[in-house]
Amino acid sequence: MAYPTTRLRRLRKTAGIRSMVRETILTTDDLLMPIFVTHGVQIKEEISSMPGIYHFSLDMLNVEIDEIVRLGVPGIVLFGVPASKDATGSSAYDSNGIVQQATRQIKAKYPDLVIVADTCLCQFTDHGHCGMVHVHEVNGRTVGEVDNDASLTYLVKTAVSQAEAGADIIAPSNMMDGFVHAIRLGLDEAGYTDVPIMSYSVKYASAFYGPFREAAHSTPQFGDRKTYQMDPANAREALREAEADVVEGADMLMVKPALAYMDIIRTLRNQFDLPIVAYNVSGEYSMVKAAALQGWIDERAIVSEMLLGMKRAGADLIITYFAKDMAKWLQE
Ligand code: PBG
Repeated sequence: MAYPTTRLRRLRKTAGIRSMVRETILTTDDLLMPIFVTHGVQIKEEISSMPGIYHFSLDMLNVEIDEIVRLGVPGIVLFGVPASKDATGSSAYDSNGIVQQATRQIKAKYPDLVIVADTCLCQFTDHGHCGMVHVHEVNGRTVGEVDNDASLTYLVKTAVSQAEAGADIIAPSNMMDGFVHAIRLGLDEAGYTDVPIMSYSVKYASAFYGPFREAAHSTPQFGDRKTYQMDPANAREALREAEADVVEGADMLMVKPALAYMDIIRTLRNQFDLPIVAYNVSGEYSMVKAAALQGWIDERAIVSEMLLGMKRAGADLIITYFAKDMAKWLQE
């Protein structure tokens, strides 16, 4: 008997047929655009390692938001770059903090644009860690450790003040144990029972955050984030992280970074029914931009393929610095 050739090319024959059998579609509704806001006036300052991404002062922000809304991008993730930093990151939970002000300003003009507030302290603390640092002596050496439970109080204050300012979704990215539970309780007690939590559930201690830390001035002043962010080698532990967040009341689960962690996106998709968010982080953006600026790659084709890949892996939503570009390309 002749060996039967499987004829897969029949369904690839024409663009029409290919589009009929296409399994995954990327749309503008899948995208969220990160935005950096800062104090001052007349500031639209490009982040050197992230061409095309800027710090905006409030007076310069509207033009950018107008464009995002016009392109149909459904939401943004707000990151604050404060004027001053201290040990507890008090500008993170100040009702007049930069994120709170930006949220009120944007909501006044665009009540329907979804504002996701990143809930963390690292941009706001003078030591650059995502929680409270407990300094003590060990064998005559001074060491600083990030104190889990002491941090929760400040993270809750931050989340509540962001909800008070009008944030639609709270996205805690600090990786303290129990942060979802603490923030859920805090939001509920303050009357924000209807504000969802998009938890950065599976956040790895990654070198891909490098450009963001330059952008947000949030590099830790000592040590690293490996005592709270996950070891890139671990996949089973990702399930424990996600499971804990589900039990604690998360409404969406995030995997971050995305490109080197597609297996984790797929695992979470298979295991949980909550919406899965992929964060296509700063380093992933910078690598593509750098190669594109050299003329080495076709930026549009590469970005489209990357973002489609994240959806195929199981992401429902993608936070990406390419959101505006991709939305433009999808319109063409
Ligand atoms: C704050 C935070 C970080 C990112 C998002 N929220 C930095 C970090 O954990 O060091 C990184 C985003 C990016 O690289 O695009 N904790």
